[in-house]
Amino acid sequence: MKEKDILQLMQKMTLEQKLGQMSLCEFGDLMQNSDNAFTGPKGEFALTASQKKIVGGVLNFKGAAEMIELQKKHLEEDPNKIPLLFMMDVIHGYVTAFPIPLALSCSFDTKLAEHVARASAVECATGGVKITYSPMADLMRDARWGRVMEGYGEDPMLSARMSAAFVKGYQKNVDPRFVVGGCAKHFACYGAAEAGRDYNCVDLSDYTMNNYYLSGYKACVDAGVMMVMTAFNSLNGAPCTGNMMLRRKLREEWGFDGVVVSDYNSVAEMINHGYAKDLREAAKLAIQAECDMEMVSTSYLQTGASLVESGELTMEQIDRSVYRILSLKNKLGLFENPYGAADVQAEKKYYRCPDFLALARSAAAESAVLLKNEGVLPLKKKEGIALIGPFADSKEIIGGWSCNADNKLAVTVRTGLEEAGAKFTYAAGCGDALDETDTSGIEEAVKAAQESETVLLCLGESMRYSGECKSRTDLTLSPAQQELFRHVYAVNKNVVVVLFQGRPLDLRAVLDAPAIFTMWHPGTEGGRACADLLFGKCNFGGKLTMSFPYCVGQMPLYYNHYNTGRPFDPAGNLAEWKSKYIDAPNAPLFGFGYGLSYSKFVCRDVRLSSETLRAGEKLRVAVKVKNDSDVDGSEVIQLYIRDEAASRIRPVRELKDYKKIFLKAHEETTVEFFLEKKDLAFWHEGGQVYAEEGEFTVFVGNDSAALNFKKFVYIA
Ligand code: GLC
Repeated sequence: MKEKDILQLMQKMTLEQKLGQMSLCEFGDLMQNSDNAFTGPKGEFALTASQKKIVGGVLNFKGAAEMIELQKKHLEEDPNKIPLLFMMDVIHGYVTAFPIPLALSCSFDTKLAEHVARASAVECATGGVKITYSPMADLMRDARWGRVMEGYGEDPMLSARMSAAFVKGYQKNVDPRFVVGGCAKHFACYGAAEAGRDYNCVDLSDYTMNNYYLSGYKACVDAGVMMVMTAFNSLNGAPCTGNMMLRRKLREEWGFDGVVVSDYNSVAEMINHGYAKDLREAAKLAIQAECDMEMVSTSYLQTGASLVESGELTMEQIDRSVYRILSLKNKLGLFENPYGAADVQAEKKYYRCPDFLALARSAAAESAVLLKNEGVLPLKKKEGIALIGPFADSKEIIGGWSCNADNKLAVTVRTGLEEAGAKFTYAAGCGDALDETDTSGIEEAVKAAQESETVLLCLGESMRYSGECKSRTDLTLSPAQQELFRHVYAVNKNVVVVLFQGRPLDLRAVLDAPAIFTMWHPGTEGGRACADLLFGKCNFGGKLTMSFPYCVGQMPLYYNHYNTGRPFDPAGNLAEWKSKYIDAPNAPLFGFGYGLSYSKFVCRDVRLSSETLRAGEKLRVAVKVKNDSDVDGSEVIQLYIRDEAASRIRPVRELKDYKKIFLKAHEETTVEFFLEKKDLAFWHEGGQVYAEEGEFTVFVGNDSAALNFKKFVYIA
């Protein structure tokens, strides 16, 4: 459809029909089988029969047959024959569950992220999805927040690169039928919810917001993301769904002219925030802030006409949103082909196809992070093993927000070991509940441990406790799991702790184990990937993208912190009068960028092409890296800078680039990076982004604690 055709279509539409396009509801509401508390038949926002014929989109449906049935019905009933936009939360896969986004970010492999997104797009497009509510580009520094599983960690640059990779994977496909629109969320700064409590308020300075929290959304906009979703939280006193500051940033400063959709009921929730006195005011504030589509609540449909008739809203404001929505549907080809790639036969071909399962398996191995290994791994023998723990044979490892993936099809560690030909005894030991008190299974587990050479102890956090509205105030393993570890370790010191988790956890209770690694929530193929790593078929290469705390009291915790006027240095003098805790260290247990391997990568001899960097020039930073082991492997070499003194305090380290390299056993190479002034720049009040003259330190190494450094001076 051409632009003029869209404009002609709009001329035919009534105000009510335009407000309908600006509304989206649950699939079930249109199929008369919804018991949804919001928009179901009894809900406050229940749609009338005539409203159901004119809504613009739906979310939460189960595949091609449902999509085709509803689209067909809708096109018969909609007076303007405007196709519905079918949307879902395809966060880390649709039917094939890939590792959760936080896990995938630990691969530091944006090409892998793009491939995962593209595979997810093929599956979900075949199921009729045209927009996925992904990537979640929220920066996160607080592991108490359950939604850290959905994002890409604490570093602005990595989070930006990963978010953009997902947008590319969804939206770029040689076969346009499999193009699925991405939706950058949640705009903005949802990850900074106070106290890590979901939906809580956010208060950030412009300085912090612009130098850290907005980078992921900006990267999505720059990558051409088709949609942006507003966040539930308030930001500096105004709910994001009606926050004019956000409109100025997203629309005016960044030039985003795509569709903004509210989060689930977040328009109406501006009343709860105390920002709108009623639904009518909520609708007005949201439309003025250019929130084009209202998800689930129906304030636009209920009050939009009255707001226009009274002059509180103009038809231009309505038309602006309707034009964006129709243009999006046009961009996705819905007017020519309202069913997209939805195809019941093709579902059999693409869902969980061998290629996607193989990708899920390799992605799970590449996302795992080895935290400790005192010569235990990889296992040299496939017998004499005790497989113990609540996650040893659990199918609940595919992760939260796993869309239409079926837990029952997940490959457990137990199955992975069996397929690998391992001989082992199995004992669950205890349940996976956070408040598990039944430890009656520990005796059997201890017996298995006593009779085995090696114990694989699968512990962690169930996916039931991860994701939306799953904030925790305690990051330790459950008391039952801690007791299981103590009893098993007491009879067999050769324990490999395998963790399944949706967030960083406090691992002090298992730190004595000679080997520890995390699989995160690895998706459908997690058990096979785990066996591949245990027996050395795959090597570890993942690096943490969120700091693992010593304890929850350190939250929020992140590597790129400020130095303070009294930085604590355990070796320093006057330690008592420094910025520290009296009952815990400042340092994380495992820091950002940390991750071991079966190989051993040694970085040395950092060299700069010059001791000064002038505007317009590039500074070459080179480091020698040797794989000082007998095992081929990959390593993420990371480059950080520190601006030693500036007009605003700068973080003690900032990741500015990284290179994932592969080295054969004993191979050595030189890795080079290039810095230029844009890498030294930061946002200043007033919106200018520029680098300031002065001394910088550049650190290069295996993680954010890298000690190899050199200094240079930047001259503008
Ligand atoms: C949820 C989430 C959002 C999701 C939306 C639709 O509450 O906050 O991330 O996309 O509703 O499911």
